[in-house]
Amino acid sequence: MIVCRSASELRRLREANQLVGRVLDVVREAVAPGITTAELDALAEREIRAGGAEPAFKGYKGYPATICASVNEQVVHGIPSPKTVLKEGDIISIDLGALLDGFYGDSAVTVGVGTISPKAAELLRVTEESLWKGIDAVRPGARVSDIGHAVQVHVELFGFSVVREFVGHGIGSELHEEPQIPNYGDPGRGPRLAEGMVLAIEPMVNAGAAGVKVLQDGWTAVTSDRSLSAHFEHTVAVTSDGVEVLSRPTAKEPTDEGTSIGQAHLR
Ligand code: MF3
Ligand code: CO
Repeated sequence: MIVCRSASELRRLREANQLVGRVLDVVREAVAPGITTAELDALAEREIRAGGAEPAFKGYKGYPATICASVNEQVVHGIPSPKTVLKEGDIISIDLGALLDGFYGDSAVTVGVGTISPKAAELLRVTEESLWKGIDAVRPGARVSDIGHAVQVHVELFGFSVVREFVGHGIGSELHEEPQIPNYGDPGRGPRLAEGMVLAIEPMVNAGAAGVKVLQDGWTAVTSDRSLSAHFEHTVAVTSDGVEVLSRPTAKEPTDEGTSIGQAHLR
């Protein structure tokens, strides 16, 4: 069953996801050559708790950290470590979840460390664009597979490949709810979207072949061919006429005169 959330539940999901979006901004700003992924993890945990929330991933099926920090050929679920020192030219996916007042937020970005190669920059651009193609497919009456289809078409246009082993998901009072949201497939399949559904859409895109494997630690997924991989994620709500991106930080209300675009959800 896919839950449709009430207005008050959506308010709480918005709060949780806005916190996640703001913390993700803080953590991405801290990315620089010489910092360790353990330091990024500590920063994220501090900011989440300062916001009155709890890390959502820590303890989830035994996952040991607040963020997933997946560097270069790591696809998702990289475990932060004091031994992982970021260096110029790396790319790092930072995936962050928080539990606030009974509801979950979940979002991820991939960023470059200093100057990155043109190929890496293209991979980041295309992966982020593919997330927005997926988000643009969300509206009442659309089908779940319309999302993945839009992602896949965009990714393959540029010769990159979509990871099959991990999927997006419904999200709410649990981190992972129905439906599963693959990032590939034919359009027009699967459940119909309806107002109040809340979805975490998260394309994972490899520069080389689509295959992935999980390392000995039981978590870190890497590309089988060790090519670079990128990952972007937003939590979105189906609205009466389209979609609201809950995890994208909105501009602060202006304190003096001026027009607020804070709740306009422009894109
Ligand atoms: N965004 C990822 C997901 O929804 C992160 C989960 S990490 C885990 O699956 F540790 F919590 F599994
Ligand atoms: Co997720």
